[in-house]
This record gives sequence, structure tokens and C-alpha cells, in this order.
Amino acid sequence: MTNLLEGNSCVFGLQWGDEGKGKIVDFLGEQADVVVRYCGGANAGHTVRIGNEKYATHLLPVGIFRPGVLNVIGNGVVLDPEVLFKEIDEFLSRGIAISPVNLKISYKTHLVMPWHKQEDAAREMASEGNSIGTTRRGIGPAYADKMQRSTALRVADLMHEEKLKQRIGQIVTERNKVLDCLYEVPPMDWKAIFEQYRDHGRRMAPFVDDTTQTLLAAMREQKRILFEGAHAVLLDVDHGTYPYVTSSNCSALGLFTGAGVPPQACQNYIGIMKSYSTRVGGGPFPTEQNNDTGNYIRERGNEYGTTTRRPRRCGWFDAVAVKYSVDLCGVTQIAMTLLDVLSGLEHLRICTGYKHRGQRLEAFRADMDVLAEVEPVYETMPGFNGNISGCRRFEELPKEAQLYVKRIEQLCGVPVKMVSVGPERSATLMR
Ligand code: IMP
Repeated sequence: MTNLLEGNSCVFGLQWGDEGKGKIVDFLGEQADVVVRYCGGANAGHTVRIGNEKYATHLLPVGIFRPGVLNVIGNGVVLDPEVLFKEIDEFLSRGIAISPVNLKISYKTHLVMPWHKQEDAAREMASEGNSIGTTRRGIGPAYADKMQRSTALRVADLMHEEKLKQRIGQIVTERNKVLDCLYEVPPMDWKAIFEQYRDHGRRMAPFVDDTTQTLLAAMREQKRILFEGAHAVLLDVDHGTYPYVTSSNCSALGLFTGAGVPPQACQNYIGIMKSYSTRVGGGPFPTEQNNDTGNYIRERGNEYGTTTRRPRRCGWFDAVAVKYSVDLCGVTQIAMTLLDVLSGLEHLRICTGYKHRGQRLEAFRADMDVLAEVEPVYETMPGFNGNISGCRRFEELPKEAQLYVKRIEQLCGVPVKMVSVGPERSATLMR
């Protein structure tokens, strides 16, 4: 296989998530010694197919499927131990080896607690019509507590049981008052929560690590590190379509704080994008096709959430939005996924600009009020037909499909080095 990983790489989504990062990280994982998750939590969902087996990961780095790869959960993640151990148990029962030898968890990683999930769900229900459309996995409240500090718990806290007991007692007393007052949620039992997290801590202890030191050692030994982004640039809490974003810095810009490594740690920035656009939850989506085209893409692309099974909103490829992500994160190469999904459409459209109140906008604006009003300007190209999933070289693709990829590459200004035409590892064309 072409050597894509000269130095260390970060793989991350360029749109609103669900770009098929799992498959590409798994594919590149063949050349990596270490795979690191640096942001998000169990709101993420990466799907990997190996042979006839299909695996959905929410917290474990995708390198877990490759023997010999070290997997790291970085401090930028918010960790729900219940989900983690469920995932570990499922994969163990399916023959995947997981132990402290191939999985390390940063002691600085913050925990998702039961009250975070309660608050997430209660807030979403209470703000009917004005909700973010979260995954209800407690992500926003967990990150809010991280910044709040006095009400947060980290993996390190699980290692000190007496202190953990006191802290959980104090926090639950306070949370019960707030949740009752604002959302009439029944009170939580602090003792049951303490016992549950004490047990999680005991099971987690062998995996807990100073992951910065582990990663610095890997860098000194010139091991290849792959930083696995979750979510995507347009969902980044600072740079995405705020407030319809997730609560972490899930663009490539978050990797240094989230993995706990110096800026020299990464040389390649591999952006993943679909050949069209999707998003789940609320928020403006200029190229959305709430029509037969959108339905066609959703059904062919199985565009239903890995984590929540919600139907995803589907639309044409938005080059304005992707160019913003590419420039913001210094993308050095692109992987395009799901090209096969577009087969059978008579015409393909690419959004090459926006019009806002009669004026052409030169660049994407991560401002909800502007985005809600923009009108996409499209370029139309001929579509292609037939099953392209068997193609193994770019030149084997129908000419129209090649032209479509090349036009997008031109608009993004960065080479599209990989094109994925099917779910299997092997259905990936290198250019
Ligand atoms: P949260 O991350 O659960 O707080 O959800 C905030 C927003 O981000 C919602 O619109 C979610 O649907 C969206 N979101 C979070 N994670 C993902 C993902 O992995 N793919 C796509 N959308 C996501």
C-alpha cells in the first residue's frame, strides 16, 4: 500500500460528522503504532467492517482492531465508564484482544456522570422547539462541569475512593436540588452512584496512565501516531455552526490540548469528507435536500445515526463549507468517502458559493443567523451510473465520477488522495 503516513497524522471530519472516519482510520491504522482519541465522548460513533463483521465504537480508538497497535484515550475525551466497559465486553466476547497492554486511558480524562445524562435529556426536552438536538449522552453538561471545576470528576478521582465518596455525595446533593427545581427530575441516590463508580474505578485502574509521557516516549522512538478525531470541524465548539455544535474542540485544532502533546507531534492533517453532505440534529444546512434527492442519498448511504439511529439530513456537497474546514485546519490531504452512494443520480450538484441578501459571500461564516439566510450557488455536473464498489483504481471509475472528484479537489485546493467506494477495507482507491 502507498505509504501515506510519513510522520504522524490526524484524521478528522471536514463536515458535520459521520464522514466515515472509522473506516479511514482503520485503513490507515495498518501503518500506525499508536491511535489516540482526543475529543468527544460516547456521542461519537465509528463503524468499522472487517470481513463480514461490523463493529460500532463509541469510545475505544479504532486501532483496537489491529493487533500490536497501542490505543490511547486522551484527556480531551469525556469518558462514560459504563459505555466504555460495555464496549470492551462486547468486543472481548467477539474475540478482539483488549488489555492494559493495548489500551491506556489518561488520568486527566473527565468523567460523564449519571447527572450529566439526566441534565442533557431534561434540558433538551424542556427546550422543545429550541433544542440543539443532542445525542443525550451527557456531553455538554460534562464539558460544562470540566470548565466549572468544582463539580467535575476525572479518571484520577476514581483512584481515591474515600475522596470520591465525599465528592459524589456533595455533588449529588447539589444536583438533586437543581434538577428538581428546573426540570422536576426525581432525586438520585448518591450512594448507589458512588458504588457504581468505585467499581468502575477498580476495573479501570490497570488502564490508567500518564498518556502524555507515553506519547512523548512513542515520539522519541519514532513510532507512528494516528490522532483519531471524532465528530468534525463544523461541530467544533469554537469554529463550528454554534450553538448547533458539540461541546469539544473536535476540529484538528483540538488535538494538542486533547491528546496532551506538543505541536510538533503531528505533521499530516487528513480531512475526511463525504461526496455529499449530511447533518443530524438542529442547525442551518444550506445545501439540504428535503426532497427525493435527499431521500435517495439517505437510503443508499444508510444515513441513520450510529449512536442514536436518527435519520440524517442529506444534501449536495458544499465546497464553501469544506474549504473553510480545510483552511482552518491546514489540511494536507483529503479522503472522500461514499462516492458509490451518488451512483444513479442524473445530475450532481456542487455548492460553489453562497448568496446572502443579494451579495455573494466569499467565505463560509460560522454564524447561524447568516447561514440560515444564505442561498447556495450550484454548479451542475453529469451524474454516473452502475455499481462502482468493485473499482480498485481511480481510472476504473466512470469518467463523470472522476470529473466530479477532480472538480471538488480543485475547489478545496488540496489533493484528494483516497476515494472510498464501499464499506470494506479493500474498497478504497489510492491516487
Ligand atoms: P452532543 O454532542 O450530544 O451534545 O450533540 C450536539 C450536536 O452535535 C447534535 O446536533 C448532535 O447530533 C451532533 N453530533 C454530536 N456528535 C456527532 C457525531 O459524531 N456525528 C454527527 N453529529 C454529531
